[in-house]
Amino acid sequence: MKEHPLLKSKPKMIGVLTSGGDAPGMNAAIRAVVRTAINKGIRVLGVNNGYQGLIDGDVVEMDLRKVSNTLHRGGTILKTARCKAFYNLEGQIKGRNMCLEMGIEGLVVIGGDGSFRGAKALTALGIPTVGIPATIDNDISCTDYTIGFHTALNTVIDAIDRLRDTTESHNRCSVVEVMGHGRGDLALYASVAGGGTACWINDPDNRIGFNVERDIIYKMRTTLRTGKHNFIIVVSEGITDVHELAKEIQEKTGVESRATVLGHIQRGGEPCAFDRILASRMGFHAVELLEHAIGNRVIIISKDEVTDMDINEALEMPGKVNYRMLEINSAINI
Ligand code: F6P
Repeated sequence: MKEHPLLKSKPKMIGVLTSGGDAPGMNAAIRAVVRTAINKGIRVLGVNNGYQGLIDGDVVEMDLRKVSNTLHRGGTILKTARCKAFYNLEGQIKGRNMCLEMGIEGLVVIGGDGSFRGAKALTALGIPTVGIPATIDNDISCTDYTIGFHTALNTVIDAIDRLRDTTESHNRCSVVEVMGHGRGDLALYASVAGGGTACWINDPDNRIGFNVERDIIYKMRTTLRTGKHNFIIVVSEGITDVHELAKEIQEKTGVESRATVLGHIQRGGEPCAFDRILASRMGFHAVELLEHAIGNRVIIISKDEVTDMDINEALEMPGKVNYRMLEINSAINI
């Protein structure tokens, strides 16, 4: 591995923080960072409350037992926040100075793309910082999957399965709003796995041109004629008012309809095996980079290989829509 020009020797101490919306598996990532570092003779400070904690010097020394029994726990033991003060240079310099004061020579930031902008700034200010992608949205294009996505997906599917029971009993239509922060992966994967008759997601390039008449009303009418009388419609958050959509569906198809907004339930719960393993692999890899004083990298998984890429490059990658998956959804959920 290449030596970072700013820091020649192995760090004596690194920091770890979680930032942005929490995601199941963040604890597994913290645990992996702490234990990998300690195994390599590097001390670890846990920074509370994201970047705000860094500015405030709100830290706790981590040891092996501090992360015991956290592998299976949702949320983040370090707490998390979206820190406005860290969006500007003044806040970033405060964070860098606090690192120098406390002896933090490298930092692991576990969070989403907003958190990686802070990581980029800190590296530029001399503290090699590595990002681990953790968000239920799976909206970080450089990695196939983010930590938390699969757990949230299972939570959404569990909810859809439950809705399906009551929807089927009443011959109704359930419109389900799924989180995603402008990105449709959670909704789309949930629709394929949960049998969504239609799935409405953001499409910045407008290649899909989703049309309520064609993609919901007409499809439901056609499907009704094949003998199906209950429907799940999955909608990614922020696109439309799902309660209004349910009313429109009821008026136009005659199928009684209800809307359910799943909300923050999607962010909680114990991480699934995939997320625990992904977090462990990414945490291990992040410390390996910092051990060699390499910063400004984001850890990614691509074709089942955990590796890393330049943060600037990662941040510039446009969002992608899985059109193939959409095609599959509309072809088989009929
Ligand atoms: O980024 C994760 C996420 O849960 C998004 O899906 C959602 O849009 C947003 O966070 C909600 O943010 P908050 O918890 O601040 O309401």
